[in-house]
Amino acid sequence: MSNNSLGATARRDLWWLEPAGTFAVLVLFIAYAAWVGLSGTHYEWGPYLSPFYSPLFKPTWWPFSPAILVLIVPLGFRTTCYFYRRVYYRAFFMDPPACAVGEARKHYEGETKLLVFQNFHRFFVYLAVVFLVFFVIDDIHAMMWPINGILPNGQMAPGPKTFGIGLGTIIMVLDLIFLSFYTFGCHFLRHLVGGSLDCFSCSKTKETRHGIWKIISKLNEHHMAWGWISLGWVTFTDLYIRLCSMGIIHDVRIF
Ligand code: FES
Repeated sequence: MSNNSLGATARRDLWWLEPAGTFAVLVLFIAYAAWVGLSGTHYEWGPYLSPFYSPLFKPTWWPFSPAILVLIVPLGFRTTCYFYRRVYYRAFFMDPPACAVGEARKHYEGETKLLVFQNFHRFFVYLAVVFLVFFVIDDIHAMMWPINGILPNGQMAPGPKTFGIGLGTIIMVLDLIFLSFYTFGCHFLRHLVGGSLDCFSCSKTKETRHGIWKIISKLNEHHMAWGWISLGWVTFTDLYIRLCSMGIIHDVRIF
């Protein structure tokens, strides 16, 4: 662009639609996550636990909602994700608003100064994988139903448990799948597994790494799609459990 003023462009298409849509979706999500995170209520029903509150721990020294502590990891993970960086730089900071559209800044400075915090993504990835393990445990728990049923307040009745599946169990398992596809398609993970190798067939270990790299690459091709799908589904999962807990909807026991 020779004319560098904000929004100046020769493009005739609806280039503004993507940043505007991204802005709307992310603002809605941030508002919902803030409301859910601060509420500290209705995050459990029967054997279900909202992913916003997992892993569930309530330290005695912490007077606020436990979700505030938990959400640091998933929010840090998504905020520093390469894909999300691209979309929220455009949507929130118009930096630039879209390809071949003028931006406010006169010079490209890269991710310097405060933005070096984006380098923490590699650490958030490890923590995100640990969180997936917690979600696996939650899903197993969501298949263990009390023989004496669920109490009117949504708590599990005391006594032995048996295997069972409700609609919420399926929603939680899908949440784990979508989050796994998003997490394991990470650009950093792809580089970590296969980026430093010159020869994929030189040893058994390298062949294995090549195999894992190919799987990650497949997921990585659709990283953006998994990013949006998992964001929407994790929100839906919380909403489902929340509405069950509030008595607004009733879970369907399938098995
Ligand atoms: S780049 Fe998106 S999760 Fe790592």
